[in-house]
Amino acid sequence: MKILFFSAKPYDKQFFDIYNRAYGFEIEYLETHLGPHIANAVNDQAAVCVFVNDKVNAGVISVLAEKGVKVIALRCAGFNNVDLDAARAHGIRVCRVPEYSPEAVAEHTVAMLLTLIRKTHKAYNRVREQNFSLNGLLGFNLHGRTIGVIGTGKIGSAFCRIMRGFGCRVLAHDPFPNNELQLSGIEYHTLEAVLRSSDVISLHCPLTPGTHYLINESTLAMMKPGVTLINTSRGGLINTAHAIDALKSKHVANLAIDVYEQEEKLFFKDLSQSIIEDDTIQRLMSFPNVLVTAHQAFFTEEALAEIAQVTLQNIDRILRGEEPDDHAALLV
Ligand code: NAI
Repeated sequence: MKILFFSAKPYDKQFFDIYNRAYGFEIEYLETHLGPHIANAVNDQAAVCVFVNDKVNAGVISVLAEKGVKVIALRCAGFNNVDLDAARAHGIRVCRVPEYSPEAVAEHTVAMLLTLIRKTHKAYNRVREQNFSLNGLLGFNLHGRTIGVIGTGKIGSAFCRIMRGFGCRVLAHDPFPNNELQLSGIEYHTLEAVLRSSDVISLHCPLTPGTHYLINESTLAMMKPGVTLINTSRGGLINTAHAIDALKSKHVANLAIDVYEQEEKLFFKDLSQSIIEDDTIQRLMSFPNVLVTAHQAFFTEEALAEIAQVTLQNIDRILRGEEPDDHAALLV
């Protein structure tokens, strides 16, 4: 059986080749994104394997169906880039890796938060130039601060637990509160109450039509002046233009993003020799109090190993007419 990978990077090949020894699929790795321009590249593959920025819309899905593709396997958790209704209409199964390492993303969120509020990114550069002054590096303690967590699924829960360990008060908003978290002291409130009371706000809900631009001019205005905002979920949760205005007015004191609305043109690529045409990301990167990483939160050895194992197992099971191990893996 053959699988065609899109958006494949050397590290994908490294991990998938190891775990494919148990399955013996014929894998072809393409570096390009899947989209209307390339859907025809599919030849006699039973499955395509895609990542977060591949565009798997209705047009692409109809080409995949014509080519005889049976499975679209996402090697990630989020699936906002796939038209599930179109897949269903064409009888193509869609699977994902619902939980590969929530801690990988939660720990990266903490790394971004600590970097920003203790300014270690600045200190790193400064001492390399033999500037040992502390002026401008003043930070604040997390201990005793109030942290707002929007979305307490697998990643949000892991982040809540870490923040409790730091001695923070943790407020959360989720339409489905988690009992265990409540018993451990996490307080659930309305979105507005969480936004109004938190010193740090971290987004961990999925991108859906209902959460698109959840953070906008009016929700930013609810936040405490001097708030620190972190998004390691999906770029479309934040209206970037409104966030830039809030940074300019100093209402938002720090912003950390691992995801960005227009990231598919930038992230996962080395553009160091290119002219970046996206003025919004350039403006964001010009702020001293904005930290950008390029969709890196998932990127640990543990997560990549789990992603490769579960993706191959999902494809194998579906092609053999069985259900994936984890029922949340099967989207269509
Ligand atoms: P999950 O499905 O376990 O949890 C999502 C939670 O958000 C659920 O509890 C759900 O009830 C809640 N939710 C839904 N709508 C909400 C709303 N309007 N307000 C508040 N909460 C809401 O998902 P998981 O695994 O925790 O992942 C969360 C997100 O993280 C994914 O959707 C994905 O976009 C992102 N992600 C980012 C990665 C990265 O490398 N930066 C890697 C993996 C996931």
